[in-house]
Amino acid sequence: MDTTAAPTPATAPASHFERFTEERSAEVVASSFANTPDPRLRELLTSLVHHLHAFAKDVELTVDEWATAVRFLTDVGATCTPVRQEFVLLSDVLGLSMLVETITNRASGATESTVEGPFHMVDSPPRALGADIALDGKGEPCLVTGRVTSVDGTPVTGAVVDVWQANADGFYDVQQPDIQPERNLRGLFTPDDEGRFWFRSIVPLYYPIPDDGPVGALLAATGRHPYRPAHVHFDVRADGFRPLVTHLFVEGTPYIDSDAVFGVKDSLVREFPTVDDPARAAEFGLPNPFRTVHFDVVLRPVDVTGEQDDASRRTRS
Ligand SMILES: [Fe+2]
Repeated sequence: MDTTAAPTPATAPASHFERFTEERSAEVVASSFANTPDPRLRELLTSLVHHLHAFAKDVELTVDEWATAVRFLTDVGATCTPVRQEFVLLSDVLGLSMLVETITNRASGATESTVEGPFHMVDSPPRALGADIALDGKGEPCLVTGRVTSVDGTPVTGAVVDVWQANADGFYDVQQPDIQPERNLRGLFTPDDEGRFWFRSIVPLYYPIPDDGPVGALLAATGRHPYRPAHVHFDVRADGFRPLVTHLFVEGTPYIDSDAVFGVKDSLVREFPTVDDPARAAEFGLPNPFRTVHFDVVLRPVDVTGEQDDASRRTRS
């Protein structure tokens, strides 16, 4: 038996790569994906390689710097748990989450979208209209009202309005499982036949994103604060409409002009006025006076103009 002969590949190489050079590095690597069966995956990988290589060349990236970056990304992964998503945080503070969200939901007459954030990691419990989602008894009571309509103003029946927010100390329930009641400040509401919804909560406060991990270290190293302006999260869905993930922001809240995750859009900011109306307070089971806010939600049908434009754009490219 001739043990000096080169082993025969089990299968012939699928393609022949050009030799790697600095000048043509991106083209060489991108060509290795040329036979990717899924055209969208091929497009994504090809463009990613071109942009990554251009970045490395632009900054003359060193081996030590790349090793630091790999350690950082490793730390980001190691920080993730079932109730903490450090990669989402990283995407958020780099503005990538907002960019992807905005590209995906270009203006359409619907309520503007914003990032989902990292805290929608447990299902909100179904609650009756008018229920109080503040289970810990903290904070300034607030009546939240709104209406879900289509872009033509007709009420959307059968919608589901999912809301979640931080408590008066600036933490979500999942961050304080031993302190807050389970599912505190979360609720899943079904609007009435006219699309109206209402529930009791508290006026949200600004809060820091979790900054005790690698993303926090990144913010500290760059002189950025970790705070988000006060907001309530909304995820609104209905058959025949595009899902909407957005926030309701409190007008005048600190950090409204320097959101750590770039989530603020002017159309999503609302006043939370104080109402002095004992009868209305009694009607909704609130102390008088109380704060209130109204937030109408406009959904976009899936078949309006623009939807097909988006779809064809992706198919073409
Ligand atoms: Fe939030």
